[in-house]
Amino acid sequence: MPAKPTPMTKITFEALDIDALATAEGRVAIVLSPDGKMDAAARRINKLTRGALERMVRLAASKDFADFKPGGLVSISVPANMAADAVDVVCLPRRASTEEARKAGAALAKVRGTADMLIAMGNINHMAELGFGLAMRDYGFNAHKTDATPAKGSVRIMCTKHEEAAAAAAPLMAVAEGAFFTRDLINEPANVLTTTEFADRLKAMEDIGLTVEVLDEEQLASLRMGALLCVGQGSDSPSKVVVMHWNGGTEGDAPLALVGKGVVFDTGGISLKPGAGMEDMTMDMGGAGVVSGVMRALALRKAKANVVGLVGLVENMPSGNAVRPGDVVTSMKGDTIEVINTDAEGRLVLCDVMWYAQERFKPAGMIDLATLTGAIIVGLGHENAGVFSNDDDLCNAFLKSAQTEHEGAWRMPLGKAYDDQLKSRIADMKNVGGRPAGSITAAQFLKRFVKDGTPWIHLDIAGVASVKSDTMLAPKGATGWGVAALNRLVADKFESK
Ligand code: BES
Ligand code: MN
Ligand code: ZN
Repeated sequence: MPAKPTPMTKITFEALDIDALATAEGRVAIVLSPDGKMDAAARRINKLTRGALERMVRLAASKDFADFKPGGLVSISVPANMAADAVDVVCLPRRASTEEARKAGAALAKVRGTADMLIAMGNINHMAELGFGLAMRDYGFNAHKTDATPAKGSVRIMCTKHEEAAAAAAPLMAVAEGAFFTRDLINEPANVLTTTEFADRLKAMEDIGLTVEVLDEEQLASLRMGALLCVGQGSDSPSKVVVMHWNGGTEGDAPLALVGKGVVFDTGGISLKPGAGMEDMTMDMGGAGVVSGVMRALALRKAKANVVGLVGLVENMPSGNAVRPGDVVTSMKGDTIEVINTDAEGRLVLCDVMWYAQERFKPAGMIDLATLTGAIIVGLGHENAGVFSNDDDLCNAFLKSAQTEHEGAWRMPLGKAYDDQLKSRIADMKNVGGRPAGSITAAQFLKRFVKDGTPWIHLDIAGVASVKSDTMLAPKGATGWGVAALNRLVADKFESK
């Protein structure tokens, strides 16, 4: 089946033309400050609707208008004297925060359906952020629905300083497009998104200026990636490592390395998972999905930074030649690993890709992302990813980026006593550390493959990559968590200005 990317809503910015409001078809959106202050567009709507907005302000305290608070909206259906089907009244103070602006954009995306929308707002803060919220929330994974999804109408934003707003929106739309790419990968079922299909979709990103290498099993074997290869050996889909290069920074500067776990399906292998809920393991390539989406965003906005994205693509299946509990494998680093549980496969994939990334690129920093442990969901739920790091500066910079983007992230501890849980009787280490602190022992395992002097962050995204209820910027399913935060980290810490 060919890849059919979920299209992004195209949003254009133009000068305010008050007279267009009465004749615009589809939906018209305007802003009303919680204190009742109206801009020129709101005043015109108030006049056309014979004072509906004034009445709304008076009713704002009543429970029918509970959505009329910053970032929320109330709609007026089939308004008289207008061609539009509805007027969406967004509640935003003139000095809205970025979060309120994004929330308002998301609220507009939710009411819009497929209708054309004309948004007319005088001069509120963060019009570009409102557009970003709208674009991010206007997502639905319809690739496998046979009833043809109707084409989406256009979204026009009229505002003062519309050229500035359009310029500010361009890099944000690159981030949204990256997040869409991530979500499509994560939502895709495993019979479609095989390791080969995944690699092909990444290779296609050469069109937007990335250099993409695909390493096959033969190459991985000569690199001696025994840990990664043992995970995929029971599957008919060949294991692959894909390396995506973005060299927008100073030539010769050490890159930031992003490493992603790409288990296209995790049955657990011979240590088979229980049947209930196993279908969720199509999202076990979430780390690789986020790395791919970040690389896409960086290329689209032509980031002035050197970043290399590496993903380990494998499928964890039981079969006659699958790896067994008790097997000992040798990693690229040379350390031997006793595979106690074949369901602790993500760390086996990552340790070889991380080692390869450091040997080849001597990165200025390395961040790995993985849907690594169920234990991180027990600890942090679906609100925060687990953050583990050996470097306070890099870690604090990331936590700040995540906070700015409203992507939950919470630092977790590391320590020698946890590492001791990985001692093996017959090999250098075993791949599980027992029940206590499952997410931390997984991180300790990875830390053994981080060289001294490499600033490193491990992000356990098992709880945040795909969720069962809507979030502010995404419908249920894949969230795209991390694309915006990592993009911001690159912009703030790794980009030459
Ligand atoms: N892919 C899973 C972790 C996971 C669980 C991701 C739930 C998303 C939702 C991982 O490979 C796994 O199976 N981890 C085991 C580790 C254990 C065997 C030490 C787990 O968490 O149970
Ligand atoms: Mn597993
Ligand atoms: Zn897994």
